[in-house]
Amino acid sequence: RKPDPCAIVLFGATGDLAQRKILPTLAHLIHDHPQPETMCIVAFARRPLGDDGWRSMVLESLDKYMPEDDKLDDEAKQAFAKRLFYCQSNFDEDEGYQRLKQLLEKLDKEQGTGGNRIYYLATPPDTDVEIIQSLGKAGLAQPEQTSQNGSSNGQQEKKSWVHIITEKPFGHDLESAKALNKVIGSVFHEDQIYRIDHYMGKETVQNIVALRFANSIMEPLWNQKYIDHIQIVVAESLGIESRAEYYEHAGAIKDIVQNHVMQILSLTCMEAPADFSPNDIRDEKVKVLRAICTLTPDEVAERTVRGQYTAGTMDGQQVPGYKQEKGVDPNSKTDTFMALKLYIENWRWADVPIYIRTGKRLPKRSTEVMVQFKRVPHQLYSKDEISGMKPNRLILRIQPEEGISLCIGAKKPGAANDLSSIDLDASYKTVFGIELPDAYERLIADCILGDSTLFIRRDEIEESWRIIDSITNAWTKMGPETVYPYAAGTWGPEEANKLIERDGREWVNP
Ligand code: BG6
Repeated sequence: RKPDPCAIVLFGATGDLAQRKILPTLAHLIHDHPQPETMCIVAFARRPLGDDGWRSMVLESLDKYMPEDDKLDDEAKQAFAKRLFYCQSNFDEDEGYQRLKQLLEKLDKEQGTGGNRIYYLATPPDTDVEIIQSLGKAGLAQPEQTSQNGSSNGQQEKKSWVHIITEKPFGHDLESAKALNKVIGSVFHEDQIYRIDHYMGKETVQNIVALRFANSIMEPLWNQKYIDHIQIVVAESLGIESRAEYYEHAGAIKDIVQNHVMQILSLTCMEAPADFSPNDIRDEKVKVLRAICTLTPDEVAERTVRGQYTAGTMDGQQVPGYKQEKGVDPNSKTDTFMALKLYIENWRWADVPIYIRTGKRLPKRSTEVMVQFKRVPHQLYSKDEISGMKPNRLILRIQPEEGISLCIGAKKPGAANDLSSIDLDASYKTVFGIELPDAYERLIADCILGDSTLFIRRDEIEESWRIIDSITNAWTKMGPETVYPYAAGTWGPEEANKLIERDGREWVNP
């Protein structure tokens, strides 16, 4: 479908996320856009830059942050710069929003943005409420009820639209998420709200759905009768870089588990939706979260492990520990690693443990879902014969070597009946022969098209915070001594191994 023209108003336009990620993505989007002349980007920001100052700033960022093999040429960059406009204001300044209104109306007339708007909040979370309420107060949150083409000449009347994109973190616990949902819901309708989780824009995350529901061989096995357990790992080799202020309050649980892991988990475990409409898919995803019970303090003590990295070696380089990172409290007890066991209490998943691991400064960057199948009901081969064979495992490699791998047993050639494991492996890049598109580009394009399937609905956010709150509340009572150290470059504290080994299982490292 051809996207409508629109103006994207970027809040936090001079900040790190906008400069590093959002603007390069928009530059690519405009470059690949079928109607490049009809999309404008408006920065709403405090610094006195003006259109020219902002254009120069963005051009510099494009040079700095666009990957070498993905850079736009000068002509494309200049064409992008012409789409950039600046509205100088503080976030709490009523007149600023009136100036924004005038600028947007001018762009409708002069640039043909058609009254369609996206407000993109790439701002620190404590400013969100102020911005949302100010947009409402200025009459900017709802579309003008005018037609674009006019009906007098026989053309069909077309209403303009207004969408809002919010970046994570969406709240810091259930209560704050509910409060934020209430504020945003008092100004925008739910179908105008696009809560981003960039993992949902990754091709390989969407491929979980294709694998499960476009292939008849998966679904009959996808349940507690055949699956022994599931592991989800989101491992990062990076530390916290320059994000101490944010990370100190988030930790691994709020930075990764509450959002990215819960999204991967719900796609992996949901029932088949009736169709691909945004609400059908999200109805199924939220049912998975609802089936995860609030953990009791005893369950939290038994099923979770927190860790924090200490100094160590990564790729032969010495790296500092978390407490030595710039801006981190030297006595910090923030979790940079967590392991967790969850159960989904429904017919499909009864008694199937879902093990989750995530952490910074782990040996490599890798996100995977590993589904381990049960052993055959009756073993014909002797213990010795199968000693070299691993259980059947299906591994969905979300990143970086995107692909899928199935581990099966096979007889080794020769007179003996010895079995071994072989991997049936496919890499998406090799099979399709193209680089996978950027997650943000897909999500912003979907928001322009008005497709919210890959965005997080209000109830999903609240359900995931309910689960996370039960863990963090118990951790607070357990005290800081249960944050175990692990050396950078290792797979987390020993306690995480004990968590899974107690169940007679082991972590499968990517
Ligand atoms: C972000 C987290 O949401 O996801 C970061 O805030 C993390 O801490 C990042 O590094 C990981 O994203 P990706 O796409 O590199 O896996």
